[in-house]
Amino acid sequence: MTASPPSPQPAGSPRWSLRRLGTLAVGLLLALLLLVQLVPYGRNHTNPPGGAEPAWDSPQTRALFMRACADCHSNATVWPWYTNVAPASWLIAHDVAEGRETFNISEWGRPQNKGDEAVETVQEGEMPPWFYLPLHPTAKLTPAEQQQLIVGLTATFGREGGGEPRGGDHDGD
Ligand code: HEC
Repeated sequence: MTASPPSPQPAGSPRWSLRRLGTLAVGLLLALLLLVQLVPYGRNHTNPPGGAEPAWDSPQTRALFMRACADCHSNATVWPWYTNVAPASWLIAHDVAEGRETFNISEWGRPQNKGDEAVETVQEGEMPPWFYLPLHPTAKLTPAEQQQLIVGLTATFGREGGGEPRGGDHDGD
């Protein structure tokens, strides 16, 4: 081993190579991911007890609803493993809370239950939300099933009175 003379830092060369920065960034990201798991929000997955359900027009409508909508609009939410992993868990917990708040078939009779808007959300392709489908392929309805759901939802919940402009916040509370 020969001692090489100390190589002088060329002026202006970065102290941190890009590679070291990359490793540091990945390390920080992993540490952050571990750390956010400690946040208690989004971990409570106890489903409230089911209550009164609407008078479905047919078992088929209910079955389609359970497939495509019930995870967010009932108290019978299925919570797969990734619903425990932050930050996904936060988004999911928020969606389920908000979904249940506006329209919950397990707590039928509450004034906030916007059943009359359900048909429209399906017709417009708004519900189920697009980001829900990749992980829930069974919630994807064929055009025929979608049509059945539209007919069934109309028969069960009716639809919002004609002509009312949408976009406003017509929360019942
Ligand atoms: C991944 C969760 C999720 C699924 C699955 C889902 N929804 Fe929703 N839904 C929400 C959330 C969150 C809201 C409230 C915020 C909003 O309007 O986007 C909502 C709002 C609604 C509303 C209230 C009206 C409105 O526009 O705010 C209706 C009615 C509704 N959904 C019907 C359905 C129907 C019918 C299905 C199945 C075909 C369905 N949803 C599937 C999350 C979901």
